[in-house]
Amino acid sequence: MKITEYIAALRENINEAREQGKTVVLIPTMGFLHYGHLAMAEDARKQDEDHEKIYIIMSIFINPLQFGPNEDLDKYPRNLVRDSRLAHEAGVDMLFVPSVEEMYPYGESLTTVNVSKITDILCGAYRTGHFQGVATVVSKLFNIVLPDAAYFGQKDYQQFIVIQQMVKDLNIPVKLIAYPTVRESDGLAMSSRNSYLSPEQRKQAPVLYRSLLDGASMIASGENRPEVVRERIIQRISTESEGKIEYVEVRKANDLSLVQRVNCTVVIALAVHFGSTRLIDNIIVEAQKDVEKHDEIKDS
Ligand code: PAJ
Repeated sequence: MKITEYIAALRENINEAREQGKTVVLIPTMGFLHYGHLAMAEDARKQDEDHEKIYIIMSIFINPLQFGPNEDLDKYPRNLVRDSRLAHEAGVDMLFVPSVEEMYPYGESLTTVNVSKITDILCGAYRTGHFQGVATVVSKLFNIVLPDAAYFGQKDYQQFIVIQQMVKDLNIPVKLIAYPTVRESDGLAMSSRNSYLSPEQRKQAPVLYRSLLDGASMIASGENRPEVVRERIIQRISTESEGKIEYVEVRKANDLSLVQRVNCTVVIALAVHFGSTRLIDNIIVEAQKDVEKHDEIKDS
């Protein structure tokens, strides 16, 4: 595995891979890798174990633009030595670890990418500017790498929908792959931020997934009133943990619009604070087959 912090060196390697006829796959991350990140690399690698057809680039960049002033930019966990080893073992070909100066050489970026409406709700309602930061850095990464395909986790469901919208609206020629949420054995969605949890908070946090499963099974058994599903989840989290709920919402899975009745595929999404740690999770409840699923990368 190669590693570079420079855009020029990265592009040189990508050009070489392209000349060899390889498909370029990008996996953007902020590092402190866990199996949620690595599973995406392994998924791409297992389609080409001999490194002959697919060139996998993983980026690690803690993007200041997507953190609010009172958020965890300064304490966001980092461990590049461990990350490099794990990325290598997962079959990544090239690790791109730019500095803030390499990504934003002029300091503040005067150009930003703003996806409207779907960024005003859910996490966007509580994290002003967050999705603008995400859309801006992801479009920069797309322009730097020019990937054929890029992986994003379903764990950050709204992020995936925002990037999908950006790609459609701006005709960015990349195939997006949504990868299912990878969980710990007790159901907690893997996240770099889980490392902030105290042992007691860690013990309580799996209630998020248990309550989402509860909501999903209510819908499966015929409950179609979103507010009833929502209330049950809120009730369960409040009684079984000290988590402070930011939001619990049931929305249409494909465009995040509100639903009066659950008669289509929905996402139940939530954000809950355990002390100063903010955790998010979601579950897709399929009423019909209209959700874009993770599928194979095809040579383009
Ligand atoms: P980060 O939180 O490091 O996540 C990187 C990618 O891994 C995202 O696509 C995220 O959805 C996915 N991911 C995280 N936890 C996961 C899990 N448990 N299961 C499956 N996938 C998971 O998301 C970001 O970084 C940033 O916003 C980024 C897209 C890199 C832009 O800065």
